[in-house]
Amino acid sequence: MTDLKSQIIPDKVPQHIAIIMDGNGRWAKQKGMPRVLGHRSGVKSVREVTEAAGEIGVKYLTLYAFSTENWSRPPAEVTALMGLLVETIRGEIRELNKNGVRLMAIGDLEALPAESYRTLLEGMEQTKNNTRLTLVLALNYSAKWEILRAARILAEQAAAGALRPQDIDETVFESALSTRGIPDPELLIRTSGETRISNFLLWQIAYAELYFTPVFWPDFGKKELFEAILSYQRRERRFGMISEQLAR
Ligand code: FPP
Repeated sequence: MTDLKSQIIPDKVPQHIAIIMDGNGRWAKQKGMPRVLGHRSGVKSVREVTEAAGEIGVKYLTLYAFSTENWSRPPAEVTALMGLLVETIRGEIRELNKNGVRLMAIGDLEALPAESYRTLLEGMEQTKNNTRLTLVLALNYSAKWEILRAARILAEQAAAGALRPQDIDETVFESALSTRGIPDPELLIRTSGETRISNFLLWQIAYAELYFTPVFWPDFGKKELFEAILSYQRRERRFGMISEQLAR
């Protein structure tokens, strides 16, 4: 592990890593356990990956914790996930503060169950002055929801005469997204062997490097995060240019 960490080039650590945490259910099934225990083990990975990210200087970590589509899961699983969210936030506040982690959330938060929403607001309030790492939970989130919402916000401003349609550029559009002020992720990780984006941060990942691993989320920890970062660091990010144009 120390060996993996020492291979990471400090000034090429991504500022922002986004993760689609997948495979909790299959992990549990493989072990003959109920799915909910998979989610519970997934929380351990959230803790370990957050700590590891802070340790190597990642500034933003965005985790896909609950998608708009996840409401169609069995009601008992939805209730368990919401309960786990409340329990985790309440239980981790002290640790987050100790480690300088600021909690944020993106998504249609007001539509969450009242207790989840309230706990989330409390968690964000109690960690708002931390500056080492921002942990962004995507909750009741989908990228299409976010992009449509941005379009509506801008259309309303235009209709009110506060914005001219010709002035809508990338910067203006980004200011209407939930991730306003957060740099785009350079690295997107998805666990569990699935190779889809599943309606996650569609605008923001335009130039992200994608990293897919067969490891189920409950088995994804510090070592796996460092391996993903090393894979990212070995790639050449050209942004449409040719190798020779890139500053070395
Ligand atoms: C995907 O596994 C995981 C989720 C939909 C939820 C992720 C939630 C947690 C890790 C726990 C709560 C999070 C926080 C931040 C407190 P899956 O159920 O889709 O797995 P499967 O594809 O194998 O069924």
